[in-house]
Amino acid sequence: MHDFPMTARKILVTSALPYANGAIHLGHLVEYIQTDIWVRFQKMRGNECWYVCADDTHGTPIMLRAEKEGIAPEQLIKRVHGEHSRDFAGFHVAFDNYHSTHSDETRHYAEDIFKKLKAAGLIEVRAIEQFYDPIKQMFLPDRYIRGECPKCGAKDQYGDSCEACGAAYAPTDLKNPLSAVSGATPELKSSDHFFFKLSDPRCQTFLRRATREVCKAQPEAINKLQEWLGEPGDNRLTDWDISRDAPYFGFEIPDAPGKYFYVWLDAPIGYMGSFQNLCARHNLNFDDYWARDSKAELYHFVGKDILYFHALFWPAELEHAGYRTPTSVFAHGFLTVDGAKMSKSRGTFITAESYLAAGLNPEWLRYYFAAKLNGSMEDIDLSLDDFLNRVNSDLIGKYINIASRAAGFVQKRFGGELQHQHLIDRFRADMPGLIEAADEIAAHYEARDFAKAIRKIMALADQVNQYVDKNQPWVLAKNPEHAELLHYVCTVLINAFRLLTLYLKPILPHLAKEAEEFLNIAPLHWADAGHLLPPAHVINAYEHLMQRIEGKQIDALLAANRESLAPATSAPTPEPHSQQRHAEHQQHVVQQEQKVKQAPATSGKPPASVAVAEPSISIDDFAKVDLRIARIAAAAHVDGADKLIRLTLDIGGETRQVFAGIKAAYDPATLVGRLTVMVANLAPRKMKFGMSEGMVLAASDPDDKNAGLFLLSPDSGAQPGMKVK
Ligand code: 2FM
Ligand code: ZN
Repeated sequence: MHDFPMTARKILVTSALPYANGAIHLGHLVEYIQTDIWVRFQKMRGNECWYVCADDTHGTPIMLRAEKEGIAPEQLIKRVHGEHSRDFAGFHVAFDNYHSTHSDETRHYAEDIFKKLKAAGLIEVRAIEQFYDPIKQMFLPDRYIRGECPKCGAKDQYGDSCEACGAAYAPTDLKNPLSAVSGATPELKSSDHFFFKLSDPRCQTFLRRATREVCKAQPEAINKLQEWLGEPGDNRLTDWDISRDAPYFGFEIPDAPGKYFYVWLDAPIGYMGSFQNLCARHNLNFDDYWARDSKAELYHFVGKDILYFHALFWPAELEHAGYRTPTSVFAHGFLTVDGAKMSKSRGTFITAESYLAAGLNPEWLRYYFAAKLNGSMEDIDLSLDDFLNRVNSDLIGKYINIASRAAGFVQKRFGGELQHQHLIDRFRADMPGLIEAADEIAAHYEARDFAKAIRKIMALADQVNQYVDKNQPWVLAKNPEHAELLHYVCTVLINAFRLLTLYLKPILPHLAKEAEEFLNIAPLHWADAGHLLPPAHVINAYEHLMQRIEGKQIDALLAANRESLAPATSAPTPEPHSQQRHAEHQQHVVQQEQKVKQAPATSGKPPASVAVAEPSISIDDFAKVDLRIARIAAAAHVDGADKLIRLTLDIGGETRQVFAGIKAAYDPATLVGRLTVMVANLAPRKMKFGMSEGMVLAASDPDDKNAGLFLLSPDSGAQPGMKVK
């Protein structure tokens, strides 16, 4: 049972559901840390605030990823659920429930909403033509089709937009399209799809009226909405395709065998599913939060790229299925590191796991992000030098320092006991504004302007430090006649430290807990800002509360993330989604960087017999090349190719197709079964005959073609998939 005051607001808060096929990285954490700070603040205020989230488990990328790993999707999402839960807990992101969209509760509400929309006449079935992979026997999402940009001709572009010129188009516009799943040329095929009729006048009227309300906190979001909706009568919003054909990992649509809800249909419904699951465990009433007449507040924190789904599609679904709509959607920007997009080659694509494994304190990052978050949709930059300087100077130099400077005297001189007199009036006079700032800081938290809250708190910390410098307790301590003054000064400082701890607690929950133990007090609530510690209160012995960041820790973090450069594969194409889309873009950037580095450097090179090496590279550069033992599972001549043999390489449970220029030296039949070495993370290359997904290694003399060509072989005992270093 819960006991909240009558005046408490009922608030339900969500963060976007991360896909269950990737690691949590610092880009994700911007959102979860932002939301967690806001929720912790609401809880400290005494509000009944619930924070739910879940893994977003459905869709083609998750299905294919599981297939690639040789496991069932259920196994994959279970494992990832464990990894995500671990990472969030590591950064003190305290969900009240972290569920899964692959749950009975989410299925229930997905079916319920679908049936209600259907009954309202807002679902329509229409046949559409889409690209189909004849080898894989599946329809291809846009991101799984690659080809040449119809506008600028850039090669190897996705089916929905060109990363070279920025053009957006339909996959059918691509020149020479190929399936990124199998390399096959896709065929157009017709199939029935379910549509949510957003073009219906009821939806249009509702969206025009209601979505401004949902985005009222962010004028820049309102502008976006205006762009999407156009002027009345424009009817810019087209119907939304909410079904996908088998094979698909998701929920089958009732009475429609072989048709599944599109992942984006059930993803936000996962918020309801997770909350329903929480209700069952905490004896809460679902309808109090979701019924049309609910008095509770509902907030969704999301990345700016998925505002569209949350401010348009989702409210329209809820409205026409008879539920309440969100009170507000809060959109934030993306994370850059040192002013640039996160990059694997620079080591700035930092996973949550690697950050913690490198021994960095999660609250350093919480503090830094908070100092940058101002409630707008602007991108935020993690400048690594600034990160180090700010954490060390603000948290250690200004805040922690107050406790460490006063605690020793209180312990040694006064047995841990504070002054016996009530000192609130004197405190107000000596520390003007420190108590009174509570309302202003609360207003900044409420508005999600954590940057302003921190500026205010640090200005107060400066004031406290000036008080220390002015009163010089270390000088007072030398003269027994000043014992009482010393006692007073230290009591003021301990009280000031307590107030600063209270103000920082939503951002630094773990540090605040340790500070509460040192201060020997119950967990701080916001209302506690109105009073001081009682006279003669006894504090505990001080133990250092936080270490400084060392530059070498950041260097090690970057190195660890550089080393973990993931091999490029032929299907790195998740559905478009928030922070991970950003990540996916990075993967593309990495591939581009690799292409540049792979430029052939043979011309003018001395003969192999002369011992002159290429320009030297670092061990880190070498480590980027993922060399693997491969078994040649199949080898065949390629019709129309003079030099090539098509190899199917087994690298331990995964097979790759590689076109190797070794026809002059080998008969395909003699190759089958033998082991060789391949570069497994070479960016896939579209050749005239199909995709080449790597390279086998062979020795030759560049100056003497007749000297022969020799495929590398490992010593006996090596197994397919082993790493070559
Ligand atoms: O963009 C993403 O990462 C999606 N998985 C977010 C879903 S949020 C909500 F709708 F569930
Ligand atoms: Zn283009």
